[in-house]
Amino acid sequence: MRKNIAVGNWKMNLSFDDAKALVSELVKVDVPDNTDVILGVPYPYLAQMNEMVSGASKVSIAAQNCHEKEKGAYTGEVSTGMLSSIGINTVILGHSERREYQKESAELLAEKVNTALAAGFRVIFCCGESLTTRESGQHFDYVADQIKDSLFDLDASAWKQIVLAYEPIWAIGTGVTASPEQAQEMHAHIRKQLAEKYNQDLANDTSILYGGSVKPANAEQLFSKEDIDGGLVGGASLKAADFSQIIKSF
Ligand code: 13P
Repeated sequence: MRKNIAVGNWKMNLSFDDAKALVSELVKVDVPDNTDVILGVPYPYLAQMNEMVSGASKVSIAAQNCHEKEKGAYTGEVSTGMLSSIGINTVILGHSERREYQKESAELLAEKVNTALAAGFRVIFCCGESLTTRESGQHFDYVADQIKDSLFDLDASAWKQIVLAYEPIWAIGTGVTASPEQAQEMHAHIRKQLAEKYNQDLANDTSILYGGSVKPANAEQLFSKEDIDGGLVGGASLKAADFSQIIKSF
């Protein structure tokens, strides 16, 4: 059975002290059964945050990025080997902000995914269309292509390490959430792609998260949809009370 997952993506927010205060609250949350909580933490805080969650079996820490090469002369970059060596084994890849601002292409993302999987990581892979793409009616094909272009060379066995996150760009940080029906419709479409390319069991076993202005007021409605297995949460994951409530919404 696929897992419910609440991921907090802190992005480039929080001081070290604020981060410690937030995590010290989150480790006290009574996480529902069959649910994982993952915190996407800035690089400098990873080791400390990982230490802080070590006693909370359902809470783990993820990096927000990794490099596609294993090591070498890449000033400012961080490898999967470095992350593993401090106990980090989950990474968020393909976020629309990195696709846009760092110009990460489908090919580069495929390379990053392969590197991360080879290092034994779980990958939270993001996809999602812009408003223009949705308004042109191309959103289903666009999202399917994002998944095909970066993930469909993988063997079926690799999918045990993949979590998908559908994040429509028009809903990120805007306060505009996709309606539960809009999100469900896209999630079902994504699951259908997996069933057609691989098989129905693999499709059923893959967690697909929704991201884009998830908050306490809408989490329960979103998570109650058949194909929505949790959330990738930005702004609301920075406040202990809000994120705790989202975690309890399953
Ligand atoms: P918001 O929840 O702030 O809209 O961000 C969503 C997101 O991009 C999470 O990765």
